Amino acid sequence: MKSALEFQKKQASGDPISMVTCYDTWSARIINDTEIDCILVGDSASMVMHGHPSTVHADVDMMTAHVRAVAKGAPDKFIIGDIPFLAHRKGLQPLMETVDKLMKAGAHSVKLEGAQGHLDEVSHIVQSGVPVMGHLGLTPQSVNQLGGFKVQGKGEETARAIMDDALALENAGCFSMVLECIPAPLANEITEALNTPTIGIGSGPHTSGQVLVLHDLLGMDPSFQPKFVRRYLDGYGLIKNAIDQFDEDVKSKSFPVKKESFV
Ligand code: KIV
Repeated sequence: MKSALEFQKKQASGDPISMVTCYDTWSARIINDTEIDCILVGDSASMVMHGHPSTVHADVDMMTAHVRAVAKGAPDKFIIGDIPFLAHRKGLQPLMETVDKLMKAGAHSVKLEGAQGHLDEVSHIVQSGVPVMGHLGLTPQSVNQLGGFKVQGKGEETARAIMDDALALENAGCFSMVLECIPAPLANEITEALNTPTIGIGSGPHTSGQVLVLHDLLGMDPSFQPKFVRRYLDGYGLIKNAIDQFDEDVKSKSFPVKKESFV
């Protein structure tokens, strides 16, 4: 996909939308050669790439640098750049400067978490010609308020609040929205109620598409195995073995050989 309009087309035709996160050029080159529909340069970069305990540590410079790196490697993909912690809560001008930076770095749209208190900002970004993806349910930037990375919308009241926020984000002009870690029946209900495509993570099979963190689906962290992640590779094991093999070859003096040397 190369445009936000294609999200609606896919939804209308009933074709699921696939999205993965990506933060760097070499992974982006691989994704560019796959059938994946779009790339999220998520603020999960803060945890996955920088080792921080939450996405609260992402900032505009970090996100801009990751978007720039991904855009270099994936020229054929639609790229969504995450607006980091509080960058949409500091006033319209700094927010629009953030959007400007992400778009100039190579994003085709931006994503921001939550709805209450910044619906006007969402509308303003949309009316400025920038497609906006919403993000509801478990909004990791609010981890300190949510008391951890927990499933959201289990009770009637919180489910209603998420549904109301989804309708409000659609009304504000979002072209799509992520539903993270909410019960599958609620994700289904929201998807049915909206004209806007939903992209689920940990929210069951009834959304318009699915997203996973690239490093989770590649099995890069053996200590992290949440229920909703399907591992397609033992990336950690494969890469560790390759590095161990190199170490062994160096220490046994079997690397390099003549054909790997200049004569
Ligand atoms: O930052 C991120 O990777 C995300 C996804 C988990 C949806 O927001």
